[in-house]
Amino acid sequence: MSMPEKLSLESASFVGRDFLEISHFTPSEIETILSLAHELKGCLKAGESHKLLEGKTLAMIFEKPSSRTRISFEVGTFQLGGSAINVNAAEIKMGERESIADVARTLSRYVDGVMIRALYHWTLEEFALAATVPLINGLSDHHHPCQALADIFTVQERKGDLKKVKICYVGDGNNVCNSLIQICELLGIRLSVATPPGHQPLLRKEPKYTELLNDPIEGCRDADVIYTDVWISMGQEEAGSRKMVDFEGYMVDKKMFTAAKSDAIFMHCLPAHRGVEVEQAIFDSSRSVVFDQAENRLHTQKAVLALLLGGLRR
Ligand code: CP
Ligand code: NVA
Repeated sequence: MSMPEKLSLESASFVGRDFLEISHFTPSEIETILSLAHELKGCLKAGESHKLLEGKTLAMIFEKPSSRTRISFEVGTFQLGGSAINVNAAEIKMGERESIADVARTLSRYVDGVMIRALYHWTLEEFALAATVPLINGLSDHHHPCQALADIFTVQERKGDLKKVKICYVGDGNNVCNSLIQICELLGIRLSVATPPGHQPLLRKEPKYTELLNDPIEGCRDADVIYTDVWISMGQEEAGSRKMVDFEGYMVDKKMFTAAKSDAIFMHCLPAHRGVEVEQAIFDSSRSVVFDQAENRLHTQKAVLALLLGGLRR
């Protein structure tokens, strides 16, 4: 196999580690993942071989629905020369038919890494404790770290120097918001989070670069990026009607973009509801980079896989 020279081996800090939260990594490790993702995207576009996972297998378990996460992990593993298998969550019934720990021990004997989309974050923590191969969080009720990587990668592509960027997240203080806060805190990116009272994200410590507020117009002032996500996340459907009332006035609209910089872009992790959390005209405008974000899930996750499972050292 010919490896592009720029993807050569340097150190071993990633091998065998889990990827459950952005905050488990240092700023320079996150920068390493992002820069490798840029290289891998370049390799793919240039048609250069980058089979860093040859002979390796990734198992994927989804306790909730997915399009982007499942397909980008599967295609990404394939492009890296490995194979991905989708393990039917309803069939293995983790925690029911067999304990989470025993599933982790068993899978560790077959595959080189596991990606789980879990109903509850503690499932991931329990699995990771018993597994002897890396576990990647493909979304939990608390975090969506793979999304945050793709989001910041997309901001970098569009806006360049992250230290000069201001992002405003409008809407629910949910899993996507938590991971966005973690990555912005780590990399020193200014972030305003505008949520209705009672729906703010839970912060573990006093943030340095993040401000929490309720007024979306204030949050969007001079922003380079306006980001939103669904108001009702998977698994929260019973709180739906209450939330629709609480979130009145939080749909990303033209007024918010008037407060932002004139070249501000719109971001959303998808799937989206046009006319609910974002005005249709904005979602479908040239400001919208939502499908770049979706594409960049592929490149950033390939970097994570290559570093954690593939033994690529940086
Ligand atoms: N953004 C995201 O995680 O998409 P899916 O739910 O389709 O995987
Ligand atoms: N907050 C959303 C993100 C979906 C990718 C959810 O958890 O359903």
